[in-house]
Amino acid sequence: MIPRAQLVLFLFATLSLLLFVPLLYWTGKPNMSYQRKIKMKEIKGTHPGNSNGAVTRFELVNVSHHESPRSSKRIIPSPSSNKESNSSHCSPKTNIVFLKTHKCGSSTLQNVLLRYGERRNLDFVLPEKANYLGLSVFHRGNMMYYPVKKYNILCHHTRFSYKEISAVMFKDSLYITILRDPVTQFSSFFNYFQRGKLYRLPGDKALKIFLGKPNYYYGIHSGKRFQTKNPMLYDLGLREKHLGDSARIEEKIQQLETEFDLILILEHFDESLVLLRHLMCWDVDDVVYFVLNSRKSSVKTVAREPAEKIRRWNAGDLRLYQTFNRTLWRRVEAFGRRRMRHEVGELRARIRHFVDRCAGNRTEARSKTKLGASDSRLGFSEGEMCDRMTRRGIPYTNYIRTYQDSRYGMGKPPNKP
Ligand SMILES: *[C@@H]1O[C@H](CO)[C@@H](O)[C@H](O)[C@H]1NC(C)=O
Ligand SMILES: *[C@@H]1O[C@H](CO)[C@@H](O)[C@H](O)[C@H]1NC(C)=O
Ligand SMILES: *[C@@H]1O[C@H](CO)[C@@H](O)[C@H](O)[C@H]1NC(C)=O
Ligand SMILES: *[C@@H]1O[C@H](CO)[C@@H](O)[C@H](O)[C@H]1NC(C)=O
Repeated sequence: MIPRAQLVLFLFATLSLLLFVPLLYWTGKPNMSYQRKIKMKEIKGTHPGNSNGAVTRFELVNVSHHESPRSSKRIIPSPSSNKESNSSHCSPKTNIVFLKTHKCGSSTLQNVLLRYGERRNLDFVLPEKANYLGLSVFHRGNMMYYPVKKYNILCHHTRFSYKEISAVMFKDSLYITILRDPVTQFSSFFNYFQRGKLYRLPGDKALKIFLGKPNYYYGIHSGKRFQTKNPMLYDLGLREKHLGDSARIEEKIQQLETEFDLILILEHFDESLVLLRHLMCWDVDDVVYFVLNSRKSSVKTVAREPAEKIRRWNAGDLRLYQTFNRTLWRRVEAFGRRRMRHEVGELRARIRHFVDRCAGNRTEARSKTKLGASDSRLGFSEGEMCDRMTRRGIPYTNYIRTYQDSRYGMGKPPNKP
């Protein structure tokens, strides 16, 4: 017979083990994978009227950017309802998909998002190199792998697929993109991607000659990675064989209306940014920008006749653009015209502030922001802000990738997820 006292001890020990092991395991686990609970939150920036010269300050707060409580449905704001949030009564959103269209001023907006995510240690969907998440429709095999459930920000070139992209992003992500007047967009696109060379046309006359017989030239080189017809619809995922099919185009536009939360228009960039900042519940300083990656030569005005030909050739993009310009302005109406004028003025004043601060001190700002493991990452000083605002997409992406790698203790990414 086992003595009674020993039996009790044995039972006690067994029970303790059964209880404590899972408990230890359970409490230990979150600590391993979520050391990133402390995030940066920007507190009230200086406002334009305030000329006390104070710099935007930053504060450490506990913000979880993991899936926040939300309804399972995505918010698809209707243009007619005034749902724009009052930034003083909402908490900033951190999850966003920006489909980066070509030659639409998208590098400027990408810079805004890179800054926002860097400052708050958010997880980016990143290309393995340069600025491209592959050249075809988004596929997770083309992105860097990190041991996270979902990512906060996607803002690099890819072709749109709601299905594929939403599979790696949080459910409450906002979907945005930007469009530009197809006349200037197409002409800029044609020059930038040297379509003339592709069609063996003389440099300065290339566009004119192409527009004389677009079907012919397009026909001899279909299947090249960037389509020379309706390039914005192409970026937004319309299949190549449908780029000339008006019924498919119509269908695509309607689909985009439900998939995207906001479509910005380059010609009304500041108004678009004000709407964006309210949707995201961000501060004015979160959306200040300098114009990046714009070349004077690529923004030549296009004469009336070629402009007309460009519109005819890119009727799909024109339809897309007109539809979403109307949507944008309906939302401006809902937001309030007067309020919009006021907020655009406020944004421009903040941009002027940074232009003044940043002009001439580029080198100094740069030397202060060396990449280093000991960098405390407590937000941006003004010098850092100047530096980030003027960084081009590829170097900035490389910088972010290095941080994201080190955040997860990773040297080299594995090939496939
Ligand atoms: C964040 O929250 C944790 C636990 O909830 C707490 O221990 C920590 O002090 C907080 N950090 C800050 C900066 O408030
Ligand atoms: C937003 O909040 C501010 C400050 O609380 C208030 O003055 C303003 O009227 C509000 N705007 C709207 C549209 O509710
Ligand atoms: C966009 O639509 C608004 C409102 O209809 C109009 O005033 C504006 O000129 C349009 N913008 C462009 C670039 O066509
Ligand atoms: C540039 O930096 C120098 C030295 O820090 C400073 O004295 C000067 O005011 C700065 N200029 C601008 C335009 O910020």
